[in-house]
Amino acid sequence: MQFLSKYSLKKYHTFGTDVYTKYFTEINSVAQFKNLLQEDIYKNNSLLILGGGSNLLFTKNYDGLVIKNNLHGVDVVKQDENHVWVKAAAGENWHQFVLWCVNHNYGGIENLSLIPGCVGASPMQNIGAYGVEIKDVCDTVNAIDVQTGEEITFTNANCKFGYRESIFKHIYKNKYLITSVVFKLNKKPVFNTSYGAIEQELKTMGVTQPSVKAISDAVINIRSSKLPDPAKIGNAGSFFKNPEVSKQKHDELKQQHPNLVAYALDNGNYKLAAGWLIEQCGFKGKRFGDAGVHVNQALVLVNYGTANGSEIYNLSQQILDAVNNAYGVTLEREVNIY
Ligand code: EPU
Repeated sequence: MQFLSKYSLKKYHTFGTDVYTKYFTEINSVAQFKNLLQEDIYKNNSLLILGGGSNLLFTKNYDGLVIKNNLHGVDVVKQDENHVWVKAAAGENWHQFVLWCVNHNYGGIENLSLIPGCVGASPMQNIGAYGVEIKDVCDTVNAIDVQTGEEITFTNANCKFGYRESIFKHIYKNKYLITSVVFKLNKKPVFNTSYGAIEQELKTMGVTQPSVKAISDAVINIRSSKLPDPAKIGNAGSFFKNPEVSKQKHDELKQQHPNLVAYALDNGNYKLAAGWLIEQCGFKGKRFGDAGVHVNQALVLVNYGTANGSEIYNLSQQILDAVNNAYGVTLEREVNIY
């Protein structure tokens, strides 16, 4: 097995900050990963498994072994009259996989077009956008225990999905390498256009009859207009989660700030639009050296070029403090900090 030492991670994560890892290797097959388990460098270092690197921020060099997951392959594993079960390897680029499904007219993930990252990270984060989350389409997650090499399959229920949450971010953090995900998709798609921006965009596009392809195109248009392309400006999508507050807290805030953007949840609580809170605190479009807050979406922190991870982290702390002082709401970072 080849290990690279003191290796730059700049092109392996979407914030694009210049950090180094003590050791770096790539795996192209499950067998190769199982061989890796026997290596001293593997046994004696902390591990970080990397997919697209689109949801993390390095505040310092990584003192361990980074393993880039390069497992590839997309296969139909089962189908019936209404559904198709598609297995995608963890290292597949998420958006390319979505386009593959769109081209086959398999419905279910078209609302998740253009999300950066790889298939393997999608259940970890329970990625979501425009009214759809991975939990709605994930059938099973295949993984390997990083200590024993044992292969295991998690059902959807075992993944304990929540808002940008799963068991892989908590008790199973760094315990499993996800090898593939099986998605249950619709051959007779049911469209989810309820998220306001999609319907508006379909109208603008002149679409009267929604299709998997039309919705994917609409989402691509919306995302491209609001969110920075990580290939051009370093970022990791939404840096914070939208916070959940009680009805009482919501009502108090709404009285003081009638323009507050909030969504009622089934459990009686409210989800607040963190982007709105951050914008009200004056951060939208602000730039501190090369670290900044995106001009079109205050929830997204960006690296304009040479910002380092600590500068971006410090900016996120300033935002957290400002929102807390102004609204008494504590934001939670969505991005994983290393
Ligand atoms: N808003 C502002 N100012 C801003 C941004 C947003 O006032 O700068 C308000 C607007 O009223 C807007 C509302 O917040 O209508 C919601 O904004 P948006 O539709 O952009 O969605 P979001 O809640 O900010 C979430 C996800 C995104 C996902 C979009 C669309 C989280 C943390 N983020 O953002 O996911 O694309 O909804 O579904 O839940 C990601 O996770 O990386 C991500 C980009």
